[in-house]
Amino acid sequence: MVQRTRREFLQGSLSAAAVLWAAPMFSGRAGAQAASANDKLLCAVIGCNGRGGDHISSLSRRKDCEIAYIVDVDEKVGEKGCNAVEKNTGRRPKWVKDMRQVFDDKSINFITTATPNHWHALCGVWAMQAGKDAYIEKPICHDIPEGAALVAAAKKYGRICQVGTQCRSNPAVQEAVKFMAAGGIGQVNFARGLCYKRRKSIGALGDYPIPAQVDFNLWSGPARYTTPKLTRPNFHYDWHWQRLYGNADSGNQGPHQADIARWGLGLNRHPNSVICYGGRLGYQAERKDPNYVDAGDTANTEVAIYDYGDKCIVFETRGLSVDDSADEEINKLFGKAKGNKIGVVFYGTEGVLVQREYTYCIAFDRKGDPIKEFKGGGDHFGNFIQAVRSRQAETLNSDAFQGHLSAALAHLANISYYVGEKNKVTVAQAKALLEKIKSRDDNIATLNRTVQHFKDNGVDLDKTPMSMGPLLQFDPQKEVFTNSAAANKILHRQYRKPFVCPTAKKV
Ligand SMILES: NC(=O)c1ccc[n+]([C@@H]2O[C@H](COP(=O)([O-])OP(=O)(O)OC[C@H]3O[C@@H](n4cnc5c(N)ncnc54)[C@H](O)[C@@H]3O)[C@@H](O)[C@H]2O)c1
Repeated sequence: MVQRTRREFLQGSLSAAAVLWAAPMFSGRAGAQAASANDKLLCAVIGCNGRGGDHISSLSRRKDCEIAYIVDVDEKVGEKGCNAVEKNTGRRPKWVKDMRQVFDDKSINFITTATPNHWHALCGVWAMQAGKDAYIEKPICHDIPEGAALVAAAKKYGRICQVGTQCRSNPAVQEAVKFMAAGGIGQVNFARGLCYKRRKSIGALGDYPIPAQVDFNLWSGPARYTTPKLTRPNFHYDWHWQRLYGNADSGNQGPHQADIARWGLGLNRHPNSVICYGGRLGYQAERKDPNYVDAGDTANTEVAIYDYGDKCIVFETRGLSVDDSADEEINKLFGKAKGNKIGVVFYGTEGVLVQREYTYCIAFDRKGDPIKEFKGGGDHFGNFIQAVRSRQAETLNSDAFQGHLSAALAHLANISYYVGEKNKVTVAQAKALLEKIKSRDDNIATLNRTVQHFKDNGVDLDKTPMSMGPLLQFDPQKEVFTNSAAANKILHRQYRKPFVCPTAKKV
């Protein structure tokens, strides 16, 4: 699509790790550039259903840009997107179903994308190769090498690449992170990310029709083409729970909180190790049918322990109900016993800080008395557009590198879980293994709470046991596992031609 210069070709021969961790070499390249602050930037929204609808709503209300294209492989979604833009602006954008048409249009300055996860990296790399800036939804990639490819592409083509972890632009979280960095709750070496978000069964595994207005070849893109066949009842959204396309809730809701946990601890690198346990359990009880087989194949419950040497993150994902949960301490920190709890708890030597909502954090002293509140939302698209105009990538609140590190936490956990899937464990076996794992958490207390949570949801762990992955050692620089060939085997997925995302050294 884009001709390479000799210098770019030589750059492509560097090792992936060298490209990823090196400083940017190219400050810009041919492609649409913002002329002056008075010019409207032209953009395309790619993937326009749920989150893409929010992109349309936000961007079409701005005075500094104009949506010229709506890109969706579902004609009905495309039509809805065009109608929304026309209603807000009086101008109807062009609908196309193949994003490559946008990349070939030199007038387009930037794209935003809210396609399913399996498309994020290829869409972003193609866009940047074509000289477009890119706002890419979280998780920015479907696997770790794809995240590295996006980081390398942004550097190589001098592009502005923002990730859709919008909490990074919210003063509530920004101020809370600054407060911790200034010692507000003492020394902080441990954070617990929580994604307690009810996710009911997506329906029975089966054979369902693909909606007639959808181009399934383009929808599938880099993922294996399933002949064409759909195994879940709902076409949109529920792909999150099928691993060909999605990354479980640890890779859906999770990247927001994993990102905040990492940010608050000041960790600008990958962890040294990960271990994950959990399962896709509880739907037989939910459906009152012991033989029920749900269409999803990702875990609905995961506990992942990340070791960074001197610091540690534990991330808990729960898709079953937490309404009757006996997590008294967590309930207290979130100020409610029932309902979802999505946030981060930072444990300091002098107190605790809880990110309870996207726009609200609260700090407590050691006695548990509140000492400070942090409130307020921001303008993540605005931060991106400012950087598109100024060409100052360093002013981005959430660049590709940060997005890559945070998405990688989900990918690492899922890899440990997938490698361990054949290793069903009793609670006693899980306990014995966790006692040996280095962590700043009380691993056994967290396990006990998780086991109780399963019981509260009618799961009999003797009949349907949990899976437990191996403790995977990870080389944070080379981005490979050092103790598991099985884990390295599923680090990077196979692509379906021509939808091949290049590696970092070949972008
Ligand atoms: N930042 C946030 O707060 C936030 C919130 C929700 C979702 N998201 C992210 O947004 C993404 C989309 O989630 P969703 O819930 O809107 O999913 P969805 O399934 O509802 O929508 C995805 C849309 O992309 C379209 N699509 C698929 N392949 C395409 C292609 N090749 N070209 C153009 N369009 C294509 C689909 O037809 C569909 O309309 C996910 O990655 C999700 O993680 C982010």
